[in-house]
Amino acid sequence: MSILVTGGAGYIGSHTVRQLTRGATDVVVLDSLELGHRQAVIEAELVVGDIADQELVIGLCRDRGVTQVVHFAAYKSVGESMSDPARYWLNNVAGTTKLVEAMLAAGVEQLVFSSSCSVYGTPAHNPVGEDAPIHPESVYAESKAMVERILQWYGVTHGLRSVSLRYFNAAGASDDGRIGEDWRSSQNLVPLVMKATLGRSGPLTVFGDDYPTPDGTCIRDYIHVDDLAAAHLAALAYLDGGGSTTAVNVGTGTGSSVYEVIRATERITGRAVPYAVGPRRSGDPVATFADPATAQRTLGWRACRGLDEIIDSAWRWHRDHPDGFPAEG
Ligand SMILES: NC(=O)c1ccc[n+]([C@@H]2O[C@H](COP(=O)([O-])OP(=O)(O)OC[C@H]3O[C@@H](n4cnc5c(N)ncnc54)[C@H](O)[C@@H]3O)[C@@H](O)[C@H]2O)c1
Repeated sequence: MSILVTGGAGYIGSHTVRQLTRGATDVVVLDSLELGHRQAVIEAELVVGDIADQELVIGLCRDRGVTQVVHFAAYKSVGESMSDPARYWLNNVAGTTKLVEAMLAAGVEQLVFSSSCSVYGTPAHNPVGEDAPIHPESVYAESKAMVERILQWYGVTHGLRSVSLRYFNAAGASDDGRIGEDWRSSQNLVPLVMKATLGRSGPLTVFGDDYPTPDGTCIRDYIHVDDLAAAHLAALAYLDGGGSTTAVNVGTGTGSSVYEVIRATERITGRAVPYAVGPRRSGDPVATFADPATAQRTLGWRACRGLDEIIDSAWRWHRDHPDGFPAEG
């Protein structure tokens, strides 16, 4: 019995793979390495290949006795999805459909899917519950919403059971500092703050500080990547226990503003974060944070770490790996 993890050489996938292998679960990672890193896969087998390669997926599922799939593999850049939508329809939507067909052909009927809070677009209310309207505002977000619906239909037509985990803002790095987010391929706030703090970029741009929030900057729900990883293990256990198809928010329930992230970084690192305030960015919601009650009720999961743990672990990772993962020799 083993678990197939697609995209397991990427940021969130590699942290999840480590938690699975630490729990003595047999894991096989399938990653194209287009955006992932061989060095991020610790103590698990890595197969380099594409989720759309159905022969490969069927063979892996059959040969390794796969019973469940965790599906991270996708493209995730909102901006790129608007300039090159086909890349997102083909990889995120068509690729996932091919993966699911291959899993089912091999008799695997349980899937945990990486969805995103971006499916809600700009939420009318906070905290955001799973019953909030689905209103994607980018091709990327639409690709996640489409896959959620495709998975629901596979439940109806083929008996697939799936959990779509709607991640809020993943951040931080592993406690032991061995794996973290490669800032070369990230536009997320925490890596950008670290880059500016370490002098590896110019000053951070704060996109607007005149929003209707206490300090004028946008508010997001930052969730530690190890807490996020733990949610996948909880979702796998839920499916293993016979749980039916569902979609669940994965956030802390607490929002932090851009200035709060900057202040926490200054306090924890003892360094000034160079930043400049720029104009608002179109399409940025003022505030988004999760109502995590469903995750607690359904999966028995809740976040254990807060902003300080995120900043502390990210700081140690980026300080020690300013160039991300080393180039392969
Ligand atoms: N990082 C976040 O804050 C966040 C938030 C919401 C949702 N997500 C979703 O979580 C998932 C993982 O995100 P991440 O931050 O770890 O991204 P990442 O880019 O670090 O990891 C994605 C991995 O998938 C691999 N991949 C992509 N297409 C593939 C394919 N066709 N076949 C095989 N491998 C392929 C890449 O090489 C990479 O290793 C993605 O689906 C992303 O959309 C991420």
